[in-house]
Formats: sequence, structure tokens, C-alpha cells
Amino acid sequence: KPLVFSGVQPTGNLHLGNYLGAIRKFVALQEQHDCIFCVVDMHSITAQLVHDDLKTQTRSIAAAFIASGIDPIKHIVFNQSAVSGHAELAWIFNCVARIGWMNRMTQFKDKAGKDRENASLGLLAYPSLMAADILLYRATHVPVGDDQKQHLELTRDIAQKFNIDFSDRIRDAGVGVDMMVGEEKVSGFFPMTEPLIEGPAPRVMSLRDGSKKMSKSDPSDLSRINLDDDADTIAKKIRKAKTDPAPLPETLEELEGRPEAQNLLGIYAALSDRTRKDVLEEYAGQQFSVFKPALVELAVNVLAPITGEMKRLMDDPAHIEGILKDGSARANVIAHKTMKDVREIIGFV
Ligand code: TYM
Repeated sequence: KPLVFSGVQPTGNLHLGNYLGAIRKFVALQEQHDCIFCVVDMHSITAQLVHDDLKTQTRSIAAAFIASGIDPIKHIVFNQSAVSGHAELAWIFNCVARIGWMNRMTQFKDKAGKDRENASLGLLAYPSLMAADILLYRATHVPVGDDQKQHLELTRDIAQKFNIDFSDRIRDAGVGVDMMVGEEKVSGFFPMTEPLIEGPAPRVMSLRDGSKKMSKSDPSDLSRINLDDDADTIAKKIRKAKTDPAPLPETLEELEGRPEAQNLLGIYAALSDRTRKDVLEEYAGQQFSVFKPALVELAVNVLAPITGEMKRLMDDPAHIEGILKDGSARANVIAHKTMKDVREIIGFV
């Protein structure tokens, strides 16, 4: 049975990239699937150990989920550290995954920078905890932005190695499910998780530089739209967004080599649930002096209600913590069952 899982780190403000690459997709998926959405607080201490206010940040991600339309009663919204199975399964995956796999991760290379010896061991093992997040629930589908693609490939590698290394035990314990790996039918315990990356804005780029992704860590605030920006700030940032002097063309092919124009078109399409082709047909031949104000209006219409609702929710910390606590208890029931089987498969007494 399909199960959707995804996570967002409680570090810094959420921006339009997080919203379009992840949260907006969560909202759409919850109509058809059972979903689990997690605030991954344990991941947030891998790059920086001490945070000023991790509790507020954690609540604010949960508030963003709910303000965007996620239903925490039908689905599960919780924080990672409240379910101990994440850390337990991550340890086991640390023993499944190879150091070479971790060393190849581009996010590790970017975040560790030149002084790799001095990065935390947790930063290196980050993808192993991420695989544990997903596989603790045996989730089948994971909506994420394009930057998480490599981590999801690694999640499949971990699941596959576990399934193969323990194949006899999985069979003996009677906990396997039949699945196809390529052409071969195998009995595995962990599913081969599918990433859900497509859509018009899988990689939202910086508003100042179409070759860099929109990110929390960009020193220029003009490079991103934050979920808590007010209408005037959103208007200013879009007005100042880098573009080229040519008008919008008629076809997507003609947009090749114009990363800033592509980015704004993708944002427009994602915010309006239309295809890029469809939006381009409407604005073909128009200048950015026409397209940008339309984008401002659209962005403000979509984001202002979310920002307002987030603020309202953040005024009541006990309410949000209650939602997280309830979600954690429900997540723990599933996690507990998986860990019981995993212990049996491995042979822990
Ligand atoms: P994080 O917290 O950096 O980002 C949360 C989500 O936002 C997406 N995203 C973007 N999408 C499009 N354009 C951008 N510029 C952009 N920037 C960020 C991310 O792809 C992500 O989907 N490792 C994950 C969190 C995580 C997770 C998981 C995700 C931990 N465990 C299990 C899925 C399943 C991360 O750091 O996301």
C-alpha cells in the first residue's frame, strides 16, 4: 500500500523553494495517500550543534505544514527526535551503508567544505538517518526537491543491501514482501522508495543568480522569498529579480540558456498549478514588465494566507506541540512494529 513520507529541517526560515519543491506537493498528495510529514530536528544538529531556538524553529515548520493545508488529523505530523526508532534504525543503516557511499554525497562535500576532517560524524552519516526516516515506516513515495535526489538513491541502495544481505532471515521470519528489483522478483523487507521530484519547479533558483539554487544559507535576502515575507517584500524581491532584456518566447525550447526567465516561469506555473507550457502560451511575446507584476499578484495571493495562518498558529505554542505529540505517538506505533521485525531479522536478543 502506498505511503508517503517526507521531512523538512527546522533550520532558518522556510523559503519559496521549500514550499514549491516540497510542502505544496505534500498538500496535493494528502488527497490520495496516507502521509507522514516529519520535522527532522535531529538532522538540524548535523551541520550546527547549538541552535538559538530549536523549539521555535520546530514549531514553525509544523505551523507551515498546517497553514499550507496539511491535515494533521488524517495524516501524521511529528518531530523526528520524539520517535526513538529513527536513531535506532539509523545506527543499523550506518552498518549497512559503506563509507564510500557517504563520501560521494554532493551535499556532504558542499556542507563540509574544505575542512572535511573537522565536519561532524553526523554530517557524514546524514543520509543514513534520512534513509531511516523513510524506511522506518516502509514508505513507498517521497516528495522532495531535486537537491535530495542523490540521498534518495542512497536510500534505495541501503534498502537493497539490507534486503539482499538478510534475504534468508527475512524469509525465515516471514516478514518479507515480494517486489521486483529490475527484472528479478525478490522477497524484501524494505521497499524500493520512489522519489517524487517532478513538477514545474523541482529546483527553484536564486532570484539574483539563475545558476544557484534558492537557499536558506544565501547571504542575500533578495535571493529568496521567505514564507514570512509580507506582500511589499515579495513585490520588491520579484521586481528586483534578475532577468534578461528579451521578451518571453513562444516555446520552452526558446527559453534554453535563459535560467532566470526559466526560473520565474517555473515559479509562476507551480504557484498556479499549471504547466510551464501553458503559462508560456499566455505570456508569449510579453516583457518582464508585464510578467513580473502578474507573478507578484499570484505569489501574494498564494502566500499571504499561509503567512497569516502561520503567525496565528505560532501564537499558540501549546496547540502546535499537542499536534506534534499526537503525531509522534501515532508514528511510534508504526515505528515500533518495524523495529521489532528488524531486531528479529538481525538476531538481536
Ligand atoms: P531541507 O530541509 O533542506 O528542505 C526541505 C525540502 O525543500 C526542498 N528544497 C527545494 N526544492 C526546490 N527548490 C529549492 N531551491 C529547494 N530548497 C529546498 C528540499 O528538496 C526538501 O524536499 N534532507 C532533507 C530533509 C529530510 C528528508 C528526510 C526529506 C530528512 N529526512 C526524509 C525526505 C525524506 C533536507 O535537508 O531538506
